[in-house]
Amino acid sequence: METNPLVTEEEEQIDLAPTEEIIKKLPDNSRGYLIPTLDKVQNVYRFLPDPAMELLMEFFNVSRAEIYGVISFYPQLRITEPGKYIIKLCYGTACFVKGAPIINEKIHDKYHIKPGETDKSKLFTLQTASCLGNCGAAPMAIIGEDTYGTIDPEKTFDILSEYKMDDEETPVTEEVG
Ligand code: FES
Repeated sequence: METNPLVTEEEEQIDLAPTEEIIKKLPDNSRGYLIPTLDKVQNVYRFLPDPAMELLMEFFNVSRAEIYGVISFYPQLRITEPGKYIIKLCYGTACFVKGAPIINEKIHDKYHIKPGETDKSKLFTLQTASCLGNCGAAPMAIIGEDTYGTIDPEKTFDILSEYKMDDEETPVTEEVG
């Protein structure tokens, strides 16, 4: 499985250079830049590591409570590293009515994760999402970069096991020479 080169096992060893770069490019420390900056930092690390948040607290002159208050308000912002693939299960009305909660329940039974959690192998993070804009194909989900419609628990498991297989497949290339 791929590892995040910017984050080592211990959080203190996070490479903060990308966060410093992002901060350097900001015109000033107005609060209006805080959320877009959190987004950019998350795009770098895939989550918001605490040492990076400390740099932002200092730059924006905000307290720990304030910055984590903002983070907890926006579901797309994460303080823990997500799995390799994020499962966004649509919980809009059409998908909800057509069985999204059952899919959610079955994913929980099999992978032991609830929305917001990552499975033990760090492969999948489950999230619920508001309408994904294709209610005609409800229930919908986005897994990684791919969108799936008219899913049911069985189809969802098939799809997830393909991701699992892809992840386990490590191409063996030997240099001949
Ligand atoms: S409610 Fe799920 S796609 Fe619209």
